[in-house]
Amino acid sequence: MQALRYDRYGPADRLYVAEVPEPACPAGGFKLRVRAVGLNPLDWKIRAGHLALVPVFDRPPRGVGCDFAGEIVGVGGGATRHFVGQRVFGSLPPFGRQGALAEMIAVAGDQVAALPDGVGFETAAALPIAGGTAVQALEDHAQLQPGQKLLVTGAAGGVGHFAVQLGKHLGATVTAVCGPANVDFVRGLGADAVIDYTHEDFLRRNENFDVVFDAACSSDYLACRRVLVPTGVYVNTSGSAGAALRTMGAGIYARLATAQRAVALVLANRRPMWERLGRYAAAGVLRPQIAPPIGLTGVAAAQRTMETGHGRGKIVVTLP
Ligand SMILES: NC(=O)c1ccc[n+]([C@@H]2O[C@H](COP(=O)([O-])OP(=O)(O)OC[C@H]3O[C@@H](n4cnc5c(N)ncnc54)[C@H](OP(=O)(O)O)[C@@H]3O)[C@@H](O)[C@H]2O)c1
Repeated sequence: MQALRYDRYGPADRLYVAEVPEPACPAGGFKLRVRAVGLNPLDWKIRAGHLALVPVFDRPPRGVGCDFAGEIVGVGGGATRHFVGQRVFGSLPPFGRQGALAEMIAVAGDQVAALPDGVGFETAAALPIAGGTAVQALEDHAQLQPGQKLLVTGAAGGVGHFAVQLGKHLGATVTAVCGPANVDFVRGLGADAVIDYTHEDFLRRNENFDVVFDAACSSDYLACRRVLVPTGVYVNTSGSAGAALRTMGAGIYARLATAQRAVALVLANRRPMWERLGRYAAAGVLRPQIAPPIGLTGVAAAQRTMETGHGRGKIVVTLP
């Protein structure tokens, strides 16, 4: 079967389509025919070696991609819940050598959820990491309530565009921060106010927010605390080791010295989250904005675009 691989950490031109053996069907898990894969910044950060010093990440040769949607073609001994032919979606743990960008993948039983009727493969593949991050940030960490004021940075990106949609669904007033090319896009997602960060710094606004979701990690808690209400919550996406460590430290300070909270998000990437996302997609709450789908050979160019840090919505790869 075909799979996208790389043999050494480095730039996107290290990616190549390889002919590799099909994976075996794992005990307690499933073998899937992959139909669509959603790309995330995590994919290129691993390939570029940004996580090379984190011991739990297997070194190359490796496959590429985590978020997948497809059909079950094999059920391992002891596996329950799913059956051959069922449409499912989910996300592979990012640590291992297997990538989702392959014709067939092997997944553990708790890595997949059934795809609700009416939700297509491309939509489902766009959901797991970016949608899960938005849901976990706003519902679990911030516990966003109707009538509260939410500010989202990186509002046009994979995570941010879901956060704008979910914030509106939860009844918040949403202020979205993005670059000039994305103002109309973000307004179209339902944002109540849009701040073009090249014209205005939200930190200088005379306005307070109940929740700042710093999806782009373009700020930090210590800067944002003055635009948070006294019980406000700052959440970021741990987009870099520095952002994660700063926010963890700030979180301790916030708990000890203030009534605010600061959270560096680590995604709980398991079936219960995929099931929540499936329900939100089926209900039309989360509507991934997807660029025209690409094939395996288009991934290197797509990752180069993502590496600029100015992604809009989601990029999805379809497999035959
Ligand atoms: N911890 C986790 O489990 C987890 C999960 C998902 C994502 N992440 C991380 O979260 C970050 C965002 O992910 P993503 O998928 O949303 O990436 P993305 O699709 O590339 O989006 C990033 C967005 O940031 C915006 N941006 C860049 N500079 C900005 C600034 N100064 N102010 C406001 N917005 C700015 C860009 O929009 P403009 O072009 O409009 O500037 C772009 O839309 C990445 O670092 C990713 O690795 C972490």
